[in-house]
Amino acid sequence: MARVPGFIWLDGALAPAGAPHLPVSDRGFQLGDGIFETLRARRGVAIELDAHLARLHQSADALALRLPFGDEAIAEGIVGLLAAESLDADGRDGAPPGDAALRITVSRGTVAGRGLLPAGYAEATGRLVIEAWPYAPPAPRLLAEGARAITSTIRHARRSPLAGVKTTSRAEHVYARLEALRAGADEALFLTADGEVSESTIANVWAVVGARLLTPSAGAAILAGTTRAWLFAHAAELGFAAEERPLVVEALVGAGEAFLSSSVAGIVPLVALDGHPIGSGQPGQRSLALREARERWIDDVSLGRAG
Ligand SMILES: Cc1ncc(COP(=O)(O)O)c(C=O)c1O
Repeated sequence: MARVPGFIWLDGALAPAGAPHLPVSDRGFQLGDGIFETLRARRGVAIELDAHLARLHQSADALALRLPFGDEAIAEGIVGLLAAESLDADGRDGAPPGDAALRITVSRGTVAGRGLLPAGYAEATGRLVIEAWPYAPPAPRLLAEGARAITSTIRHARRSPLAGVKTTSRAEHVYARLEALRAGADEALFLTADGEVSESTIANVWAVVGARLLTPSAGAAILAGTTRAWLFAHAAELGFAAEERPLVVEALVGAGEAFLSSSVAGIVPLVALDGHPIGSGQPGQRSLALREARERWIDDVSLGRAG
């Protein structure tokens, strides 16, 4: 059974996870008027925290949402929460090192008055919650057999100013994932209105063609992932060339391999799209090697050997 967290970090202090905290007027609850980040922490070290906080600021700016705490307070909150949840073990005593998934959620909080943007919306005191869970890697089947995706009926608008904003308004993502589950698949890919691959419901999409790693550009209405940025930064030393390329469905299906990238799930092989096998239809060796490299790097960062 999944462990129930004992604590959350709420508006500056640890609080019991199970207690009621937010009023029903909270705009995150009412309107999905909020933003979030998800990331890993190992040995008490939040991985790529700076990049996640930078994106949190960008998301906040896009929605004119005031972050109620600065980066330092959030970083301290994470350290305190991981300690309270016993998820920060350094592993020096031979026990497994602490490995966690973190979520930072900010809602606009409550604004007096009804409607989308009543007077005072820009001054509202946001609510900030950090949650932590023991890290659960993707299901063994997804790594052993790879993920099978469908294309969602929902298309992404290339010029949408919200494409790169990590809002808590996730109805489209939930709907697309429902489409996948109803079709017996694991994941759904969004296409742009003109039919190019954009991203999955929780990850960026990559095609592997020889030693080239191809992924859609920001112009394809993607969330620019931190793991995607890591792949660009580390591709060369791992023997690859990472390139932004428009990816039509046929090119993805015709690639030697494909994979998904995201902070918490990591690099996950993608083996089929709409019932068509990608490459051999099995997890690709290159994709699995990249997954291993990323996991090793996370461990190195947690040991202060990389950064
Ligand atoms: C829609 C979407 N695209 C891409 C990503 C990958 O981003 P990251 O690598 O920063 O986790 C995520 C992950 O949260 C996502 O939700």
